[in-house]
Amino acid sequence: MPVHTSSTSAPAAVLCGVAGWVPPRVVTNDELAERLDTDDTWIRTRTGIRCRHIAKPGQATSDLAVEAGRLALRNAGLDPAETNRGGTDPVDAVIVTTTTPDRPCPATAPAVAARLGLNGVAAFDVGAVCTGFVYGLATAAGLIASGVAARVLLIGADTYSTIVDPLDRANAIIFGDGAGAVVLRAGDEDEPGAIGHFDLGSDGTHEDLIMVAAGGSRGRSAEGEPTRAERHFAMRGNEVYRHAVTRMAASARATLTSAGWKTDDVDHFVPHQANLRILHSVADDLGLPRERCVANVDAVGNTGAASIPLALADAAARRVLRPGDRLLLTAFGGGLTWGSCLLTWPELPPPIRTHDPFVPHHTGDDTLS
Ligand code: UT7
Repeated sequence: MPVHTSSTSAPAAVLCGVAGWVPPRVVTNDELAERLDTDDTWIRTRTGIRCRHIAKPGQATSDLAVEAGRLALRNAGLDPAETNRGGTDPVDAVIVTTTTPDRPCPATAPAVAARLGLNGVAAFDVGAVCTGFVYGLATAAGLIASGVAARVLLIGADTYSTIVDPLDRANAIIFGDGAGAVVLRAGDEDEPGAIGHFDLGSDGTHEDLIMVAAGGSRGRSAEGEPTRAERHFAMRGNEVYRHAVTRMAASARATLTSAGWKTDDVDHFVPHQANLRILHSVADDLGLPRERCVANVDAVGNTGAASIPLALADAAARRVLRPGDRLLLTAFGGGLTWGSCLLTWPELPPPIRTHDPFVPHHTGDDTLS
């Protein structure tokens, strides 16, 4: 497919569709407290989370990804059925970013593409744990800049309920399942929706802070059967918390500096929804009013690679994001990995809400009190 360029420079990736999807089942803090030694007040005051959505048994990451992907294509005015009618593919590549692929092999994206009627297009997964969506944006932007793709569907999807031990109160309270997706097209760097000025980083010396020990080649080379703990998601929450705040703030600052933006130029800060206290600490560190921090962690918990696109879809559906608004996206996750990027919000139809997972929020402190 020819790539649109208006100048000699490489085309920019321009956001032209967004959507989110979460499984219908809502699990409240009180419900968790029935089976875990925890309570609603502890969870709310430590994390800002009131409830999360959990996939039903048998529902896999690709199932969530397909729902979000379909809605994002529709939001972008693209129709996969066009391919079947002999037209061109609505996108040239599908990227799924996830920590919970359907299987260790193959990647989840080809099956997602096929189920979306996009069989034949490039399809692959990107893994950067909770930073996956920002890494995915950079990857998609690279495909577009190089002319390999003119349109890319990027889906962040995770079903943490499949890797978190339901008896582990430290993690079971934080994570939720969900998917969020964006469509990117080739365009100009100065048009609304253009994505740019990335900052990406990693520190693998801390890989042990967030880990599923078994299931990969390291685990399979170990002697004996993996223990219950090794088969499940493990996180040293306290240390991760401190890294999250410092790395996210540093990444956000580096990105603003490279673009020549001042903190005050940011209309909306859209961070990975790890924990409301982390989001507020990063906003405070940057000198950004907390009201500019987009948050839906109260309603969906930490949804891993889905969290930023879900937050974008939520805020777009509530018309919090207005055309021309300037956004700073910042993520942090296992690896360790982190990343940020900037974009100016485009004119889009409000994304469809399939259910109403999104209770009102802008980030006052009431959730934490
Ligand atoms: O998305 C990828 C990145 N992830 C993150 O950014 C998550 C970062 N970490 C966090 O959000 C927080 O560290 C947690 C929410 C995971 C934990 O909050 P915390 O304030 O750091 O708690 P803590 O781990 O320091 O634990 C404090 C106490 C401990 O009890 P003692 O040792 O002081 O008696 C824990 O056993 O709270 C206890 N505790 C709980 N109590 C009630 C831990 N989990 C729970 C719970 N309910 N669910």
